[in-house]
Amino acid sequence: MEVDDLKAKDKMKNTIRLEEMKNTGTAAPVPTEAEVAARVDALLGRMSLEEKIGQLTQIGGASFVPGPKPEDVIRKGGAGSVLWLNDTKQFNALQKIAVEESPSKIPLLFALDVIHGYRTIFPVPLALASSWDPVVAERAQAVAAREARAAGLHWTFGPMLDIARDARWGRIVEGAGEDPCLGAAMAAAQVRGFQGPSLGAPDRVVACAKHFAGYGAADGGRDYDPVYLSEGQLRNVYFPPFEAAVKAGVGTFMSAYMDLNDVPASGNRFLLRDVLRGEWGFKGFVVSDAFAVGSLVTEGFARDGRDAAFRALRAGLDMDMASNTYLEHLAGLVEDGALELADIEAAVRPILAIKIRLGLFEQPYTDESKLAQVVALPEHREEARLAAQRSMVLLRNEGRLLPLAKNLKNVAVIGPLADSQEATEGSWMVFGHTPAAVTVVEGIRAKLPGAKVAYAPGPEIRRDIPSMFDEMFGVKKAAQTPEQAEAAFQTAVDTARDADLVVMVLGENADMAGEAASRASLDLPGRQEELLEAVVALGKPVVLVLLNGRPLSIGWAAEHVPAILEAWEPGSEGGHAIADILFGDVNPGGKLPVTFPRKASHAPLYYARNLTHSPEGSPRYSHRYWDGPTTPLYPFGYGLSYTTFAITNLKVAVPQVKVGSSVAVTADVTNTGSMVGDEVVQLYIHQKAGSDSRPMRELKGFERLTLKPGETRTVTFLLGPAELGHWSTSAGKWVQDTEDFDVWVGADSLATLHADLAVVR
Ligand code: BGC
Repeated sequence: MEVDDLKAKDKMKNTIRLEEMKNTGTAAPVPTEAEVAARVDALLGRMSLEEKIGQLTQIGGASFVPGPKPEDVIRKGGAGSVLWLNDTKQFNALQKIAVEESPSKIPLLFALDVIHGYRTIFPVPLALASSWDPVVAERAQAVAAREARAAGLHWTFGPMLDIARDARWGRIVEGAGEDPCLGAAMAAAQVRGFQGPSLGAPDRVVACAKHFAGYGAADGGRDYDPVYLSEGQLRNVYFPPFEAAVKAGVGTFMSAYMDLNDVPASGNRFLLRDVLRGEWGFKGFVVSDAFAVGSLVTEGFARDGRDAAFRALRAGLDMDMASNTYLEHLAGLVEDGALELADIEAAVRPILAIKIRLGLFEQPYTDESKLAQVVALPEHREEARLAAQRSMVLLRNEGRLLPLAKNLKNVAVIGPLADSQEATEGSWMVFGHTPAAVTVVEGIRAKLPGAKVAYAPGPEIRRDIPSMFDEMFGVKKAAQTPEQAEAAFQTAVDTARDADLVVMVLGENADMAGEAASRASLDLPGRQEELLEAVVALGKPVVLVLLNGRPLSIGWAAEHVPAILEAWEPGSEGGHAIADILFGDVNPGGKLPVTFPRKASHAPLYYARNLTHSPEGSPRYSHRYWDGPTTPLYPFGYGLSYTTFAITNLKVAVPQVKVGSSVAVTADVTNTGSMVGDEVVQLYIHQKAGSDSRPMRELKGFERLTLKPGETRTVTFLLGPAELGHWSTSAGKWVQDTEDFDVWVGADSLATLHADLAVVR
């Protein structure tokens, strides 16, 4: 990257603050807590029990949701919120019924999953986390919020904050990966992006921290399966992103689907009352995951719907998403005396409070002409391109094959994802969205206007078992016959043979990661590996671009393909951003937020494991399995650049720090190459002994820096009680042990630059 580009980037980063982004809405006046409480009381005073229960009910606006017509439910005051609808006109029509015809005229909250963009699609959250730059995530979600709000949405079901250490689990794509420190930073950033400075900020939406909690630890990586996590694991690893979201002011939480230690998360008082409200002081409301209140019966926890409604409400679950269990049973439970009216009102309060803070009573409708103006803003595409550039991770670059020269005359772009808008935008599209991304083929063609850029997809790839969403949305995809696949294979190899350089674009289709998209293998699906090997055998220079939503076991490529770029699912501007990196207009600087295992059977594999009686690499029993190494293919935090960096001069300000105090850790980072580039400097610690065994490494700080050739900067991290303490299983509480620690600073989780630190009384 040139110095001018860098300046431009710095300008983007520093001068267009999120607050200054053009506002197309009017700010709701920020009411005080007392004002909100008084308005809530006044509303409650005039609402019937049925209407109160209505506020606790979220109904589906889509045709696949069973039950009465939304209009009829809303007219009776039977719904507080609508999801699975994405149509401004319809929003206004339903809102009109709510505010003009329903008994207490309370406006509806319109909610949808806006996970990585509304119309302008950003890289998937796992990719945003690969930027190791919370500003990128904040800005992405600010744009998503602005577009979503212009469409009439008030509330998004994001960010997804589940720590995921098992790449087989499909929903790993929706989160920030395996680490609580990176996860917490990304959580807070996304909440700020969605919500802005306060609930009710114009052009923003209410965020929802999901899925509380532990969903990412599903047995075997199988979606929805039970989770067993100790309190120590929950508090040290799985909770921090959620607590960070609360601290950032997140308006709502979503309870997870699965059983956590034998108690479903949606009926789990420990999670929803003791921790969330009791310890963290959360004041917003909790919505269930879709149909999850009803599922308490399916899961063999509640006896029937009545029991499910009772137990979910008592556990602290305020709003029932789509199962109608509250609607059917809460009134009876109050009439029988099983529940108090106060129980119902306590759940209604935070819902009404959010509607008040959003200014919905004053402005319930959305201007139907607004969306078209907002989605057309060129800065949204710019933001998406910048986010995609910053999210990509260079995994390999032997012989400095990359960056490619722009005078290439004859390039082949090969692979089933090379021209796929769907795979480029990735999983979790907004309901009803049509993919419209710049593909890799298009991006490369735009970079090489005078060159021949041939394209051949090769055999298609598809899930063995179709996605439940295909069935839900009536998607039918005709499969290639083996003969057609074979012909496509040969065409792809022939196309590659004719070129001077080949860019292979392989990975997973959008429907191969996400909800209900777990898999037993992490191999490249279909015949992609075979095609890759055939193309490499031609002896041409080959660059592999990966489009995928999870780590893949690309062991063969890691040895035989000279250049590998992990582009994830990069969004609307993905093809341009990939070409920007391949041709050196942008120097990649992303780092892996997840460990890449060599094989699926090594999952869960993550860096922050405890030591064992015979640590890996020790002479007695160096391997965990006898049939191959279990070390990662690529470690957590890893990523290359077109330049080189040296990290030196690690200093811990004092060798001993008192319990409760903080110590500064500094290191110098120098760009030792000849190109401007980014390094993510990472701080890891290890507590050597103490009340519990502690992970052999834990990330405790990171900073992404842009450095000119020859430039050196000093990075400073603070280690205080929050970083040096932990939740102790043996003590049953938070502790800060007086013990010795290792400290490392480096460019990934294998950092070797080391110092000692002791915590003392
Ligand atoms: C998913 C949630 C999502 C909800 C609403 C569920 O199936 O687990 O993440 O927010 O649907 O679409």
